Amino acid sequence: MQQSNEAWGSRVGLILAMAGNAVGLGNFLRFPGQAAANGGGSFMIPYFIAFLLLGIPLMWIEWGIGRNGGRYRKGHIPGMFAAIWKHPAAKYIGVIGMVIPLVVLCYYTVLMSWTLAFTWFSITGDYWGLTTQQEMQQYLRSYQVIGDGSVHDFWVPFVFFFLSLGSTIWVLSRGISAGIEKLAKIGMPILFIFALILAIRVMFLGSGENGVSPIQGLEFIYKPDLSRMGEPGVWLAAAGQIFFTLSIGMGTLQTYASYLSKKDDIALSGIATAATNETAEVVLGGSIAIPAAVAFFGVSGAMAVAQSGSFNIGFVSMPLVFQGMPFGQMFGAMWFGLLFFAGITSSVAMATPIVAFYREEFGYKRETVSWIVGFVALCFGLLSIFWFQYGFLWEWDYWAGTFGLAVMAFIEVVLFMWVFKPENAWHSLHQGADIRIPGIYKFVMTYVTPLYLGIILVWWGVKEAIPFLRLEGGIGAGGAIPEGGEIYVHISRLLIVAIMVFFLVMIRIAWKRNRYDDRVGFVEVEDTELGLAPGMEGAR
Ligand code: ALA
Repeated sequence: MQQSNEAWGSRVGLILAMAGNAVGLGNFLRFPGQAAANGGGSFMIPYFIAFLLLGIPLMWIEWGIGRNGGRYRKGHIPGMFAAIWKHPAAKYIGVIGMVIPLVVLCYYTVLMSWTLAFTWFSITGDYWGLTTQQEMQQYLRSYQVIGDGSVHDFWVPFVFFFLSLGSTIWVLSRGISAGIEKLAKIGMPILFIFALILAIRVMFLGSGENGVSPIQGLEFIYKPDLSRMGEPGVWLAAAGQIFFTLSIGMGTLQTYASYLSKKDDIALSGIATAATNETAEVVLGGSIAIPAAVAFFGVSGAMAVAQSGSFNIGFVSMPLVFQGMPFGQMFGAMWFGLLFFAGITSSVAMATPIVAFYREEFGYKRETVSWIVGFVALCFGLLSIFWFQYGFLWEWDYWAGTFGLAVMAFIEVVLFMWVFKPENAWHSLHQGADIRIPGIYKFVMTYVTPLYLGIILVWWGVKEAIPFLRLEGGIGAGGAIPEGGEIYVHISRLLIVAIMVFFLVMIRIAWKRNRYDDRVGFVEVEDTELGLAPGMEGAR
């Protein structure tokens, strides 16, 4: 049963939604944290190389895979892979594109709920008066760790989590055009305006106690530094950041692109999405948290904050900076508010591949499946909250949100460039295109990107994934495994495996139910039924 007939309302809306999908907590929280922890200028060179050789090619590849899937009304990865590779294994390999977005959704909405909570705490001035890093860290920790009632009541994190997840699911249940596109049209301009105001405000911060100005913070990131280029860890962190920030390997860009037709451009739109994301990340994301932290704590102090915990640069140092400013509560609310908008435009995307799967293969109503996904995310999100102190959330972030993205990207590049063949891939990317992609990218996509990804995966596997798997070397972004935490690490991994097995079974049922013949492929949908909504072309 194929009943999905979603469409984007306009090209502007599509680009904003795609940019909303990509621009997220990764741009304003993860990026400054990663850049500062990996030496600023020394991070940026591998970062730009990864953007050019991994980010941009994979952005096009994912739009291409997505739109090609849409030809057969397949908005989910198993269907998209099966559309490219007429082999029974293809759909099962596609399970990764169901597991990753669901797992990331579950913890991402928890992270989003921190931003919503801190927006509220800024408006009410709740953390005003906490003027040292230790005090602010304790404040954040009491919020994060259930049972540490030293500052916050037990129920507070739950309220904000319900609100964050509930709003995500509500938008999702309204559909592509009336929900996601509308949210992006409102949320993205607000986010950019808030970010611009904050970036300008931060530049006018005076030199802090250390006598360091915010401009030196900019120098710290933008001044090329070759000293740490030889460290594999910096290259891996840079590639990981590129995947996460662009939403590469998450399965979400593909679903968004599946609602386009052959007549719609994907070449220019793909690069426009990547460029918008990078502007938000490097220009705006890089001009707020790092310069502010550097002005406050000095360069080494800012690096220490970033290394002391993921997101500390956003949740610990920024509140300290705001307290020293006139209208600090307003700026604080803007900072955390922009993070919330950045988060929600990404979290809605993470649920779309699952919604597409159940709508297209089982004929479920969008509202029904949205709320079911919401319920599942609620259960797992609660585990992330309850077991935060044991590293449960960071474990999911590592396997699904870091390592998993590279695995998925590698599968995609092999399928699109090698199985589908470079000629077909190139032709497909140029159908309806408003620009011609520079010819060099055909070579890059065919050889350089897969090779680069292969090296990264091996390197990552040896340096991190295998030691992590053996419980050596801590957990993902969360540092050492806390005492008594091993069991939670095992549970978190088992749950990922269980989710995977569940989706594998669902894929099998779906294929049987709809009597798909893997060797024959799917029936193509009339092109007139796809693409930007009819009558809206004027909006292009
Ligand atoms: N790309 C999204 C982000 O940066 C997931 O947060």
